[in-house]
Amino acid sequence: MSLFTEEFDVSLLQLFLFNFGLLDCQSSNVPNFPEFVVVGLVDEVQVEHCDSNTRRFVPRQDWMNNVTEEDSEYWDRNTERLLEAQQTFKGNIEILKQRLNQTGGVHIFQNMYGCEWDDETDEVNGYYQFGYDGEDFISFDLKTETWIAPVQQAVPTKHKWDNDKVLVAYRKQYLTQICPYWLKKYVKFGRSSLMRKDLPSVSLLQKTPSSPLTCHATGFYPDRADLFWKKDEEELHEDVVRGEILPNHDGSFQMSADLDVSGLKDEDWGRYSCVFHLAGGQEVSKRLDKRDIRTNWKTNDGAAAGTVIAALLLLPGCFIRLIFYLKKRPQGKVETLLSSSGSLMCVC
Ligand SMILES: *[C@@H]1O[C@H](CO)[C@@H](O)[C@H](O)[C@H]1NC(C)=O
Ligand SMILES: *[C@@H]1O[C@H](CO)[C@@H](O)[C@H](O)[C@H]1NC(C)=O
Repeated sequence: MSLFTEEFDVSLLQLFLFNFGLLDCQSSNVPNFPEFVVVGLVDEVQVEHCDSNTRRFVPRQDWMNNVTEEDSEYWDRNTERLLEAQQTFKGNIEILKQRLNQTGGVHIFQNMYGCEWDDETDEVNGYYQFGYDGEDFISFDLKTETWIAPVQQAVPTKHKWDNDKVLVAYRKQYLTQICPYWLKKYVKFGRSSLMRKDLPSVSLLQKTPSSPLTCHATGFYPDRADLFWKKDEEELHEDVVRGEILPNHDGSFQMSADLDVSGLKDEDWGRYSCVFHLAGGQEVSKRLDKRDIRTNWKTNDGAAAGTVIAALLLLPGCFIRLIFYLKKRPQGKVETLLSSSGSLMCVC
């Protein structure tokens, strides 16, 4: 039996970026968790969604409704294709379980693909990859037009796919032409939303008196931003741990930067500030002031505080996390581009 039978036709592949996660969570006790999830993103913002519970491909941004102006069947056609793809994905998990001598447990199979378009140079780049249980399994190299197998179990698949010249040519055409065609269409409809600039609210958080001081910026858009600590006018690198940029539910982003304050003298606190910088120039700056720090152990007026710093969601018997890996932007001026994505992980 062939691995990853390519039954996706042009219509499905018109969807420029998917993240398929198939969760075999029967042995867990997570109620109603969909086994199949599809998301489409433009510039890290989720614009469309389908899962095995709702069984319907739907827009997640208002402006995505406009795609039906030029393609009235868009949502119906792709709903059908995705529900078919779910079966292919299930089959692939079965094949991989056999190849890896796995008998049960929770397994995740993912396909992630997409393209980037630079609207100044018109340069286009694309990627197409599969993952199994959170690890890279096989990916397409657009430059050499070959498949790359980082694990031994993917080598038979690589040989098979490398020899399929029709498929290789189609992958290339998809990534260099069809995908950018759809990306440009989405950008046409979503331009005012995708090009907006929102500044975050910035707060200072500290779990315990001995914890690092967290500067937390949330609500900004787009995700091209920087957050750093300054002492007087000098940017600090030592004693600072910077987090990744993470997506919020509403399409905005958040990030944080921790400052080790253990060696800090009281009289020096006022010399420190946390600075948020949005690509393109706008800044928000917050001077370090003890009265502004929100804590877990007491509020500033002395009353007991609720949890300021959110914990992980813990479920009995099963632990589910939605993890987003944010890709680094390519170098150079990239005004409008699309990139990836996230992965769904279930560890029981
Ligand atoms: C799977 O099991 C067979 C038989 O026990 C063994 O020959 C093979 O090497 C195993 N494969 C893997 C990937 O562990
Ligand atoms: C999207 O659709 C809305 C409602 O039909 C319309 O008012 C708007 O002009 C459309 N936007 C674009 C960019 O075509």
